[in-house]
Amino acid sequence: MKIVFFKFICACMMFLLCGCQADDSAAPTTPTTYSEHIQPLLAKYCVACHSNGEIAPFPLEDYQQAKMMATDMKIATANRTMPPYSMDASGSCQTFKNHGWLTDAEINRFSRWLAEGMPEGPVKPATPPQLLEHLNIDAYSLTMANFYVPSSGPDDYRCFPMDSGLTQQKFLTAYELEPGDKRIVHHVLLFKTSDVAYQQALIKASKEVGLGYSCFGGTGVADSLVGAWGPGSGVTRFPVDTGIRFTAGQKLIMQVHYNIASGSFPDQSTLKLEYKNKVAKEGYVQEFNDASIYIPPNQSNVLNSKIFNLSSYLGATQSSNLWKIMPHAHQLGRQMRVTRINSAGQEQCLGDIPHWRRNWQRFFDYQTPVLLKSSDKIRLDCYYDSTGVNQATYFGLGSLDEMCMLFTYSTLNP
Ligand code: HEC
Repeated sequence: MKIVFFKFICACMMFLLCGCQADDSAAPTTPTTYSEHIQPLLAKYCVACHSNGEIAPFPLEDYQQAKMMATDMKIATANRTMPPYSMDASGSCQTFKNHGWLTDAEINRFSRWLAEGMPEGPVKPATPPQLLEHLNIDAYSLTMANFYVPSSGPDDYRCFPMDSGLTQQKFLTAYELEPGDKRIVHHVLLFKTSDVAYQQALIKASKEVGLGYSCFGGTGVADSLVGAWGPGSGVTRFPVDTGIRFTAGQKLIMQVHYNIASGSFPDQSTLKLEYKNKVAKEGYVQEFNDASIYIPPNQSNVLNSKIFNLSSYLGATQSSNLWKIMPHAHQLGRQMRVTRINSAGQEQCLGDIPHWRRNWQRFFDYQTPVLLKSSDKIRLDCYYDSTGVNQATYFGLGSLDEMCMLFTYSTLNP
C-alpha cells in the first residue's frame, strides 16, 4: 500500500515537472517582453502580411505598432483567426510544412504579454522576418494582358484566360504569383483547360467590360485545378522530381479573388512558372466533389459527409503518395475534416480545419507524404452554419451556393 502511494506521489510530481517543462510560457518567473518573445513570433508568423504595402490592413513591424494591437492580437491568436490559414498542424491530425499554426504556448505568449503590461524588454537585434523564396524566371512569366480595376466590392472574383505559349510538352514544377497590387490581390487559383474551354472563356470575357470575366465558385468552363496562391505562400514547389503535365499550347485560366474593402486599385499581376522537360513522376491534382449537398435553412451546425472510393480514382494503380490537400467550401462553411478509412475500417485523420475561412484557402503540404491504397476510402466532412439563410442551400458555383470539395496533389506508385 505504501509503495503504491509513493508511486502515486512520484507520478504526480513527474506530471507537474513535465507540465512546466513542456510549456515554459506557463512558468510565472520569465517575464514576457516584446524583444525576446513577441517580436520573434511576429517575424515568424505575421510580418509577411502585416507590413506596409502587403495585404493586412496594419503593420506589426515595431514595438509601438505591436503594443497598439496587443489586445486584438491576443484575441485573434486565441481564437485562431490569425494567422488566417487554419489547417491544424499541431500533430493531433497531421503535420504540415509552412503552416502558420501557433502552438498553445505561443498563443499564451500574446495573452501574457498583454497581462504583464506589454514591456519592450532589452534592446536586441530583431529577428528578421521570415523571407519568402521568389522565382525569377522571366522566360515563363505570364502577365495579365492589361490592368483590371475591380469594382464589385468587397469581393470581386475575376477569371483571366491565358495562353501558356509552350511550344512543346513540359511539366510544371513550381509557380508563384507576383501580385500587381498586394493590397487587393487576396488569393488566386490556377486552372488548365482544353482549347475548346479556353474559347468559351474568351467568349465570356468578350461580353464583359474590362479585362477577363466575372466568376465566383469556378471558371464556369471545363477545367482542372493546377495550383493555388495566397499572401504569405511565396513559391509553391511540387515535390522533388514531380510535376503537372502541360501540353504544347496549354491554355490556362487564372481566377483572382480581389478584396477591395480598403479601396480599389488597378492590378496587373504576373504568374511565374517553372518547368522541366521531364520528371520522374507525373503529379495529379484530383478533385473529390460532393454535388449532392443539402443544407437546410437557419441551422448553426449542419454536417454533410461524403465517402469516396479511391479505387475509382486510382484506376489500375494499387497505391499513391498524397503530398498536398486543399479542402474547399464557400461562405457557410465552418469546419472541414478529411479522413482516410482503410479496408479494415480503421480511420486516420488526413486534415482538420477547425475554423473554415473561405478567403484563406490554399494547398497544405504534408511533412511526409501519406501512402494511400486503392482499397482505401476518403471521407470528407463539411460542417456549415446556415444561420440567417432563409432557404435551403445546394451545391453550385454561385456565391450563394455551397461546395464540399477536396483537392489533392498526388503521384501514382507503379
Ligand atoms: C496571410 C496573411 C496574414 C498573416 C500571416 C497574418 N495576418 Fe493578421 N490579418 C491579415 C488580414 C488580411 C487582416 C484583415 C482582416 C481579414 O482579412 O481577415 C488581418 C487582421 C488581423 C487583425 C485584426 C483582427 C482580425 O482578426 O481581423 C489582427 C489582430 C491580426 N491580423 C493579427 C495577426 C497576428 C498576431 C498574426 C501572426 C501571429 C497575423 N495577424 C498573421 C493577414 C494576415
